[in-house]
Amino acid sequence: MDPRAIRAKFGQDYVATERTFMMGIDQRFTAEMAERFRNRQVLETCTGGGFTTIALARVAAHVITVEIDQAHQAQARQNLATAGLLGRVTFVLADIMDEHTWDGLPPVDAAFLDPDWAATGPDHVHRFVPSSTRPPADALLERSFRATRNLALVLPPTLDIRELCTLPSHERQKLYMDQSHELYCLYFGDLAVSLGETELRV
Ligand SMILES: C[S@@+](CC[C@H](N)C(=O)[O-])C[C@H]1O[C@@H](n2cnc3c(N)ncnc32)[C@H](O)[C@@H]1O
Repeated sequence: MDPRAIRAKFGQDYVATERTFMMGIDQRFTAEMAERFRNRQVLETCTGGGFTTIALARVAAHVITVEIDQAHQAQARQNLATAGLLGRVTFVLADIMDEHTWDGLPPVDAAFLDPDWAATGPDHVHRFVPSSTRPPADALLERSFRATRNLALVLPPTLDIRELCTLPSHERQKLYMDQSHELYCLYFGDLAVSLGETELRV
């Protein structure tokens, strides 16, 4: 990976592979998103290269972050060390869709859910139900609601938002970089600032 690209997207000389670089959320977005988690006990799933974890760890009381891929977790651990934030994060290597994983997690005030979009080419159509993300966004959301009502869920920009109409009331934030719509983030519970559609432009 080109270190200049990593620095531009994430802010420091972190480690990343093509995959964790692509999946990682730009620091201009994560800094804004993380503000809603200030002083909270936060569950994050999934860790990836740890780029959202870094933003959350800067403001949260503590972050517990779950990742299924050992290599991704190793990068994240190294990146949190580079950011000087290792002590503010607990790393869990597990499948978040496994009930045993939830049995081992402490109580949390809020959760940040960023499943892998698992894109399969330009013709791939992202669906919410049945979800094509890994883990499936709909099942992950439903399971996470049992831990806390205060949830943020990141979804692809190409999603047909009519598929979200059966969800509990939420804020649907459209995140733009310049004029490009990059992703959606849905906020539930007291993470929602206002219900309905909002925008974040960086
Ligand atoms: C979109 S990336 C997260 C990126 C992260 N928010 C960042 O900004 O760096 C999604 C991650 O979910 C992980 N993942 C996929 N299925 C999972 C599961 N069942 N349990 C836990 N992690 C999972 C993938 O290995 C991948 O690292």
